[in-house]
Amino acid sequence: MRVAVIGQGYVGLTGAVALARHGHRVVGVEQDGERLSRLRAGEPAVYEPGLAEHLASVLRTGRLDFVGCLEEATAADPVDAVLLSVGTPPAPDGTANLSHVRQAVRQAALLEGSPLVVLKSTVPPGTSDALLAEHPHLRERYVYNPEFLNQGRALDDWQAPARTVVGTHAPAALARCRELYAWVSCPWVTTTPASAEMIKYASNAFLAAKISFANEVAGLCADGDLDIDDVILGVGLDPRIGPALLTPGTGFGDSCLPKDTVALAHWARERNIDTPLLDATIETNVRRPGLLVRTLLESAGGRLNGLHVAVLGLRYEPWSDDLRAAPSRAVIPLLHEHDAVVRVWDPAMTAEDLRRAAPRAVAHPSLASAVSGAHAVLVLTAWPELTGADWEELVPRMAEPRIVLDAKNCLPAPVLHRTPALYRSVGNRRPSRQDPAPEPAA
Ligand SMILES: NC(=O)c1ccc[n+]([C@@H]2O[C@H](COP(=O)([O-])OP(=O)(O)OC[C@H]3O[C@@H](n4cnc5c(N)ncnc54)[C@H](O)[C@@H]3O)[C@@H](O)[C@H]2O)c1
Repeated sequence: MRVAVIGQGYVGLTGAVALARHGHRVVGVEQDGERLSRLRAGEPAVYEPGLAEHLASVLRTGRLDFVGCLEEATAADPVDAVLLSVGTPPAPDGTANLSHVRQAVRQAALLEGSPLVVLKSTVPPGTSDALLAEHPHLRERYVYNPEFLNQGRALDDWQAPARTVVGTHAPAALARCRELYAWVSCPWVTTTPASAEMIKYASNAFLAAKISFANEVAGLCADGDLDIDDVILGVGLDPRIGPALLTPGTGFGDSCLPKDTVALAHWARERNIDTPLLDATIETNVRRPGLLVRTLLESAGGRLNGLHVAVLGLRYEPWSDDLRAAPSRAVIPLLHEHDAVVRVWDPAMTAEDLRRAAPRAVAHPSLASAVSGAHAVLVLTAWPELTGADWEELVPRMAEPRIVLDAKNCLPAPVLHRTPALYRSVGNRRPSRQDPAPEPAA
């Protein structure tokens, strides 16, 4: 099939590469000039592990091309399908901003040749039906097909998704969608567009709830003879629960869960539907940055002014360069509010990136320089460079009171407990569990 993919961000670009790998002739449409020039130069415009190599290999096949607008994509040759993977960022009131979706649907609706129209963007339930009311001629060839990929393994998720959800009013459109994803062998859920939209929001709300729940359990474990690592391990091994995202730490801060949970809560409020569980999930998350800074404050005796605090890792996850809702964006301004001298270091960010992300902070080129002389360090990303660092060598370089706040519970607790650091983590990570056995008495 000849396929146009509108929007070449995390979803659209990885999708375009996957579709081309599976034999389709794909044209990626990107309106952002800088992203487009990078793509035309063969450079992925977003970071995903393995994407650069896969992009280079599909470009060599000649099955993938990039253009700046849909008219250009279809000028010479019509398309059989058009995928819409444009952003749905939060509006100032927290609702989903659907302007990019509306614009992309308008463009797709003008195409000649009756291509299949596949909306992939995350949108509130009822959006597809409203769009179809505006463009009734699309009804027989429209599907809502939410994307469930995880940043960091987006290509794998495109190749082998756990499920494919398709919401449509038209059996013929469903059949064409199966042709588009002929390589996919997972279960398909076929339903109405509104139910498919709710499946995406409800899935993200549940994942967010797992993270907030883990953080609440961490709070319960902060006191007494409790070990959060053991508790989470024991809970997550129940197959009805599972370990995924049962992760106490900074709270959720990827590009989807924060905006989608808030948008769903708005959707419910507009309909006078109570969502106490969803509201608590969001509230628990909103509190995380403040709680982390409070832990630092308490450890420092109630004041941070003038203290050098090194924020280590600005990304939410090492494998994603998407900083849109990263916890560092909330934590750093709070540290400034307390008049801390903020240092920042992230192994994947240049000095310029760091300055753009944290303009008032001092950007450091290395872990050692960020830590040396700092009174406190705050770990916000589980970078291997941090989990595998020589903390017995680093901590003595710090200035008293040498606070190490591990907000990702990723550092080797037994090692940190051997150093002069005032080691804090989320919940209670006891040093004893992994400590080496004592030397036998002579
Ligand atoms: N990022 C994720 O992990 C993820 C996962 C699942 C679902 N989603 C959802 O998928 C959608 C896309 O997310 P993303 O992270 O890829 O967004 P993104 O912001 O990274 O990319 C969207 C791209 O679309 C381009 N664009 C917008 N309107 C256009 C138009 N009319 N023509 C051409 N280009 C246009 C923008 O310039 C941008 O480059 C969102 O609704 C998001 O919620 C994202």
